[in-house]
Amino acid sequence: MAFPAGFRWGAATAAYQIEGAAAEDGRGPSVWDTFCRTPGKVLGGDTGDVAVDHYHRFRDDVALMSELGLTAYRFSISWSRVQPDGSGRLNQAGLDFYRRLVDVLLEAGIEPWPTLYHWDLPQALEDAGGWPERDTAFRFADYAGHVHAALGDRVSQWMTINEPWCAAFLGYASGEHAPGRREPAAALRAAHHLMLGHGAAVRAMRARHPGHRFGAAVNLYAISAASGADRDLDAARRVDGMQNRFFLDPLLRGSYPADVLTDLEELDFDACVRDGDLATINQPIDQLGVNYYSRFTVTGDTEVTGQAVSSPFSTHSPWVGSEFVRFVDGGRPVTGMGWEIDEGGLHEVLTRLHRDYPPVDLYITENGAGYDEALDGEGAVRDEGRIAYIDAHLRAAHASIAGGVPLRGYFTWSLLDNFEWSWGYSKRFGLVHVDYATQRRVPKDSARWYAGVIRAGGLPD
Ligand code: NOJ
Repeated sequence: MAFPAGFRWGAATAAYQIEGAAAEDGRGPSVWDTFCRTPGKVLGGDTGDVAVDHYHRFRDDVALMSELGLTAYRFSISWSRVQPDGSGRLNQAGLDFYRRLVDVLLEAGIEPWPTLYHWDLPQALEDAGGWPERDTAFRFADYAGHVHAALGDRVSQWMTINEPWCAAFLGYASGEHAPGRREPAAALRAAHHLMLGHGAAVRAMRARHPGHRFGAAVNLYAISAASGADRDLDAARRVDGMQNRFFLDPLLRGSYPADVLTDLEELDFDACVRDGDLATINQPIDQLGVNYYSRFTVTGDTEVTGQAVSSPFSTHSPWVGSEFVRFVDGGRPVTGMGWEIDEGGLHEVLTRLHRDYPPVDLYITENGAGYDEALDGEGAVRDEGRIAYIDAHLRAAHASIAGGVPLRGYFTWSLLDNFEWSWGYSKRFGLVHVDYATQRRVPKDSARWYAGVIRAGGLPD
């Protein structure tokens, strides 16, 4: 099972989850700094203040990437490290950090894949209304232009936003992510403005450097109806509409799905969509990042009890329209997050993108498994579950390529154990174990296994 020549073999991280150094060298606060300080929002009261101290240890971490043989590394840039107030003044020390990181990656022969927004909105912009405010989209494009000007001489792959569904709906509808608001109508505006910011940012960056490659990373799910009954099929349509098509359609086709707009009529979503917005969102992109973890099974039987997304706290559904649907057990094995494992869903998502949308290069920008793990008596992590998970999903990716899907790379989530948002440090996704007390890094069995896959350029048949 060889993958095509030039296939990117990567791992991914995000700034707030790994960097630490939250108050160093002029970084301004983001919504996650504030959220972590709000009692009851993050398990154990954990924060990203120190995280895995990547800000100080990035050279060692790039050395780990070299040991793995990664050919690409996806990381995110902290907006408030670069522009502490989210607009105006730039922080040169912040830009310098990313320049050093990029230089060390390039020296190691690893292609840098920055994401410009992985959920850490500068607090000053949230104070001005956050993503539900239209202006935030243009502040984002402005910031993207500054980062592009600073790093564009050495970085040619650019991802704008990460998982706009989460940023909008976990941040502004269920409140389980920062900034913790529970305002469904505002969450919809946030989603629109995140995508508008993406389009405006691509436009600004491409004007400076048309040869670079631009895209966004969306979290897509395979969705099954619990039965063939009409109400279950309609529940599946609704959930697919909000989770998948609400983002894919504007990004790739320049329109919102008509059935979803009908579902949303009472929330007055249309009012925030102005002339020209959809053309901006529908900027041509060079690649789409797909973050894939799981399949959801849904029913329209609202008597059934079920939870939309596993979260340590939220009693509110992040899913707008949740009064019409319930998420039920699909009967598959789960990871330590309680997420059902279904590699067939990855194949389905990729094949559907290729079949139903205009052609665009695809990358799996996240895929992996989180568990509660510890070093064993021999100081090792025998993470067979993670190996089996990645192996199965790579096989599904390979089958998709064989079926004609233009899949160009795979980034596993994550390089290192890190701050898993409202779960704090209780869930570990890394190929590399981190002892949070000492910051010692120990590659897990999965790290050695993945290095072997990369060396071989694929999997045994
Ligand atoms: C999606 C997010 O982009 C990432 O930040 C998170 O840690 C992983 N999925 C796992 O939940």
